[in-house]
Amino acid sequence: MKITVIGTGYVGLVSGTCLAEVGNDVLCLDLDVNKIKILEEGGIPIHEPGLQEMVRRNVAAGRLHFTTDQERAVKHGTIQFIAVGTPPDEDGSADLKYVLAAARNIGRLMTDYKVVVDKSTVPVGTADKVRAAIAEELAARGVQTPYAVVSNPEFLKEGAAVEDFMRPDRIVVGADDEQAVHLMRALYSPFQRNHERLIVTDVRSAELTKYAANAMLATRISFMNELANLAEKLGADIEMVRQGIGSDPRIGYHFLYPGCGYGGSCFPKDVKALIKTAADEAGIELQVLTAVESANNRQKHVLANKVKARLGDRLDGKHFALWGLAFKPNTDDMRDAPSRELVADLLQAGATITAYDPVAMQEAQRVFGPLPGLTYASGPNQALVGADALIIVTEWKEFRSPDFDLLKTSLKNALIFDGRNLYDPKLVRSQGFEYQPVGR
Ligand code: NAD
Ligand code: UDX
Repeated sequence: MKITVIGTGYVGLVSGTCLAEVGNDVLCLDLDVNKIKILEEGGIPIHEPGLQEMVRRNVAAGRLHFTTDQERAVKHGTIQFIAVGTPPDEDGSADLKYVLAAARNIGRLMTDYKVVVDKSTVPVGTADKVRAAIAEELAARGVQTPYAVVSNPEFLKEGAAVEDFMRPDRIVVGADDEQAVHLMRALYSPFQRNHERLIVTDVRSAELTKYAANAMLATRISFMNELANLAEKLGADIEMVRQGIGSDPRIGYHFLYPGCGYGGSCFPKDVKALIKTAADEAGIELQVLTAVESANNRQKHVLANKVKARLGDRLDGKHFALWGLAFKPNTDDMRDAPSRELVADLLQAGATITAYDPVAMQEAQRVFGPLPGLTYASGPNQALVGADALIIVTEWKEFRSPDFDLLKTSLKNALIFDGRNLYDPKLVRSQGFEYQPVGR
């Protein structure tokens, strides 16, 4: 099948590449000339395990192409995926300007039947707006080309994006057009594996499903973070509680890890957008989600608060080693990363920091800009030298089994604040460390 993907970011590039991998002829469009240049030169603009090799393989096979030419892109695919960003507006609602610009462009340039697929995370009712934008452009040209608009939200996780796309739990397709459903079924048939994964719904239910999934997962995390804070005060161990409740199949083990708050490009913005849509479009205050959001905002300060409780509110003259910057491991994404609040809190209190992240340091430098008091180390051990304590904010594998003897000799104090509960508290404490995890 001929497919166009509009927006070659995390979702667009992964989707386009995986669709090429199963034999489709895919053209990825982006307006960002630099991104397309990197891709045309054989690189990829993001860190995502397994993606680079897959891109190379499909480019070499002639199934995957990149362009900044909008006309070529609209001409190419019968299926036009819209995978552009939907960042939060000033008021927290999803900003649809990129989605609607992409839709208008399709309407302005299309000459034959198109299935326009909203893959971006968009509020309920967006498909109607996309349909209307295309209709307006067609009317302005005085043409009546048929088209369908489908909602097909994406559930991939960064760091595991290729695997998630290639082996999905489910594929949600919201459509009210038979021909479009037929095409989407054919497109996704290579991803079905041993049982039917495609769930066909009406368009609005598909749009809401995406927000519901992210909101539910964010709720679990905020709930566990609150319980962790409670466990700490009551002398219980949240890790034991996690195992105790996760073993109930009605609860399950996934997404029950407490920490220093959820971040990333999705949970924070999607929780906010759902609260806003509910209030504006339905007059409903989503009380649970409002609490989830405020609990998460508080949790992002949990590490800095622990540091201050231990070393004093003013941290002038104190120096910290920071392990991890990305919002989670296996990605260089810094969007809404908890490290951002932590760095701001510590610097504001007068401290200095040397940070290390296996892949996100370049992105961190872009995001933070030059900040007095923040420097970067070439490796985890280099970051430790002369620090008053180690603070861990991202659970990269390479932080899981450190040389504790080296840690002790490099740090001024044998003091670890761990926002991701990487170590067995008994073991670390038995080696003479003061260890402050979350909820244990
Ligand atoms: P991104 O910022 O990484 O990529 C978006 C790309 O779209 C950018 O490269 C931008 O230049 C391009 N773009 C904007 N307008 C364009 C236009 N008119 N034509 C062509 N290109 C255009 O964003 P992302 O993280 O891939 O997210 C995209 C959407 O998918 C969002 O709605 C997001 O909520 C959703 N989503 C993201 C993830 C994730 O893990 N990142 C997972 C599921 C869903
Ligand atoms: C999320 C959704 O999982 C994915 O389905 C959707 O398509 C996009 O948003 P992503 O943001 O890539 O994916 O990462 P995810 O693994 O969900 O983690 C989000 C945040 O929650 C991270 O900051 C992570 O550290 C945190 N988290 C996750 C926890 O604090 N505890 C957990 O148990 C799981």
